[in-house]
Amino acid sequence: MSEHDVFAVPAVPAERRCRAAEAGWPDGLIDRMAARRWPEWRQELYLGLPDVEQIQREMADLERLDWGLQVREATWDDDERIADLFAQSTERLGDWDLTVERGPNPFAQMRLHENGHVKVVVDRGVAVAASMYSGRSSCVGGQKLSVGWIGGWRVRNGMHRSGYGNLLLCAPEAALQPFPAIRYWYVRTENVNALGFVQHAVQDRMPEPIDKLTAAVHHYDAVAAARPDSRVRPVEPTDIARCVELVNRTHHGLDLFRPYTVGFLEGRLDDGYWGPKPSFVAPVYGWPDLHVLEDGGEVVACAGLWDRGRDLREQWRHRTTGEEREVTSACVLDLGFAEGRADAMAALLGDLAARTAALGRTTLVVALEFLPDVQGAVAWAEPTVERRHLETIVFGEPGFEVSAAVTRPYTDLVYW
Ligand SMILES: CC(C)(COP(=O)(O)OP(=O)(O)OC[C@H]1O[C@@H](n2cnc3c(N)ncnc32)[C@H](O)[C@@H]1OP(=O)(O)O)[C@@H](O)C(=O)NCCC(=O)NCCS
Repeated sequence: MSEHDVFAVPAVPAERRCRAAEAGWPDGLIDRMAARRWPEWRQELYLGLPDVEQIQREMADLERLDWGLQVREATWDDDERIADLFAQSTERLGDWDLTVERGPNPFAQMRLHENGHVKVVVDRGVAVAASMYSGRSSCVGGQKLSVGWIGGWRVRNGMHRSGYGNLLLCAPEAALQPFPAIRYWYVRTENVNALGFVQHAVQDRMPEPIDKLTAAVHHYDAVAAARPDSRVRPVEPTDIARCVELVNRTHHGLDLFRPYTVGFLEGRLDDGYWGPKPSFVAPVYGWPDLHVLEDGGEVVACAGLWDRGRDLREQWRHRTTGEEREVTSACVLDLGFAEGRADAMAALLGDLAARTAALGRTTLVVALEFLPDVQGAVAWAEPTVERRHLETIVFGEPGFEVSAAVTRPYTDLVYW
């Protein structure tokens, strides 16, 4: 793969080179950063720092690192190279090619996970493959268990079947990642390539069978489903206990659902930070995104809107007709409603669809598989149902007994 164009050293724009000279940087320092494939935001950050000698010392330290093939945890510096990898890795789904672009913040989805990790294979500074992981405590079959999510498997186009998938499978896992009793992942039902890879490279080499079922979510055209509702308002801290009650009532007993606590929901809405965030850390999902619907002086429904489309776009291209479509979505998280108030939940979804359209996203995605009354109440908006394979595997060793199996899966869209 050494002759692949992608390994050419990126050029530094003349304007940035000028600013480096004006800042008193020695010749070549900015090029050394580009050659180490520092992301633009980091080059800009350093251009604003006063101590040029310190910058040179840091650069020299980094240049001591091995520059061959690495499999490692992703770092802040990897945002551009991982966004580039996703833009250059295509899923084949029947007659369609699908490229899921992640950026400007390719880590946005993972920020919403507990214990998230991104493993990246880097060759001479270029990301050639990556995969994502997270682990959390949850409930399966009524038992408390640790579960691990796997997703975001990508190998750069033109490099498939070169062993990078195998490398990701056998590379050591991050030391602080919880080792789960049950691991699970979603695969689009038409992705026969990925399913073939899983069958050959995972299932055929494991004593334990992979359990296969499917999970479904509903897609609503944001414009068609938009129905602003004046009873909807942003959540306030004093609403959180009620929201927790509504969420727990709504999803009680589903596998992979862990009953919420006030601390859990507040932590999720804190978006990983207390206080201000630096400019290069864009918000993902937080307090302004959770909404409640109040009726008769009581909160009867709640739901959050994660603007997934800000950092994740699906580019579809039909291989024979050349037809192209871009799908950008906003996803409903943390939804709950009072007993008998599917109507209120449906009204809140109509309002969130209006907000989705206002954001410029095409689609509102909601996990309604086990909520037929809500499905019925928004049937007028004529959703399409997307179904994915949900594969689970139980860790096995003598004395490690897990009898629980996922049968009725709760879908938290941050893991979709
Ligand atoms: C799925 C994907 C990650 C696999 O990675 P890869 O680097 O091509 O896989 P490898 O070359 O390491 O192959 C590992 C083994 O699986 C086999 N394999 C790979 N793809 C296969 C397929 N479609 N069918 C059957 N076996 C397959 C290889 O032959 C190899 O077998 P071996 O160890 O006996 O030699 C890669 O094809 C990819 O990025 N696809 C596009 C994006 C995508 O669909 N991601 C998955 C989303 S869920």
